[in-house]
Amino acid sequence: MGFGLNMGRVLIQNLSREFIERRSARRVANANPDLSQGDRLLVLNSINLEFQDGELVCILGPSGCGKTTIARIIAGFDFPSSGKVLTDGKEVRGPSSDNIFVFQHSGLLPWMTVRENVCLGLRNLTDRTQILKRAQEFIDVVDLTGFENHYPHQLSGGMQRRAELARALVINPEILFMDEPFAGLDFLTRLKMREEVVNMHELLRKTIIFITHDIDEALSMADRVVVLSDRPAIVKMDVKIDFPHPRDFHSDPNLEDLRKGVYMELGVHYAL
Ligand SMILES: Nc1ncnc2c1ncn2[C@@H]1O[C@H](COP(=O)(O)OP(=O)(O)OP(=O)(O)O)[C@@H](O)[C@H]1O
Ligand SMILES: [Mg+2]
Repeated sequence: MGFGLNMGRVLIQNLSREFIERRSARRVANANPDLSQGDRLLVLNSINLEFQDGELVCILGPSGCGKTTIARIIAGFDFPSSGKVLTDGKEVRGPSSDNIFVFQHSGLLPWMTVRENVCLGLRNLTDRTQILKRAQEFIDVVDLTGFENHYPHQLSGGMQRRAELARALVINPEILFMDEPFAGLDFLTRLKMREEVVNMHELLRKTIIFITHDIDEALSMADRVVVLSDRPAIVKMDVKIDFPHPRDFHSDPNLEDLRKGVYMELGVHYAL
């Protein structure tokens, strides 16, 4: 048990991951140069990173570079081919539902209300009053007060994401993984959700590992932005974003420069 202040600290040391492709992959070997040398696909190439406890880290990178893979390894759902990952100073050996919870857009259970969905995470508690009190606390944090008895289909897309967020938070994870959680939401809802995550993070100070394709989303939210290269992924950029919220790119030249730098790293030369 870690009682220190570093429970959400993540240390990634020389992490590499390669996947062994099965025989059927040979057929596409000519079309896919990654496989032409054989059946191995190197995805992560000696990654070194360190995230502090309570940091909101955004991971950016081109599609297929290994963002989900790296998150899955930190969460213990996949494993390194070489190198290692430590959370709270201990090597990750498998998933830990006690202090790590992976939040994806996996959906709420449609036959349960918001309250029942959020209470799902508290199955290990027995005191009904306690369970309801705690669920309510997080329903309030994500601003769904008044919608406790609604079913998922009665909520908007953004509200559904917030209910999922409450369900993850109620477990009190040390590290929260969010893998493109706003995919499919409209632009205005995304803006609102960014703000909600930043507010929630300021309130709870959990380590959040947030994966996105959206550069502005990363820069408007993160304490740290990590940019991965094309596969096999190396760390192209790892910067602390020490700007207060809310962030306005256009009125802060330093932030605007940083933004241009990230666009350049990702191969985009005209950031609008
Ligand atoms: N279990 C697996 N077996 C074989 N190959 C895999 C496996 N998981 C991932 N890969 C491969 O690893 C590469 C990286 O996948 P990953 O899902 O981590 O990318 P990503 O950066 O999250 O992409 P996206 O932005 O599209 O979500 C892909 O080429 C994928 O095909
Ligand atoms: Mg992914």
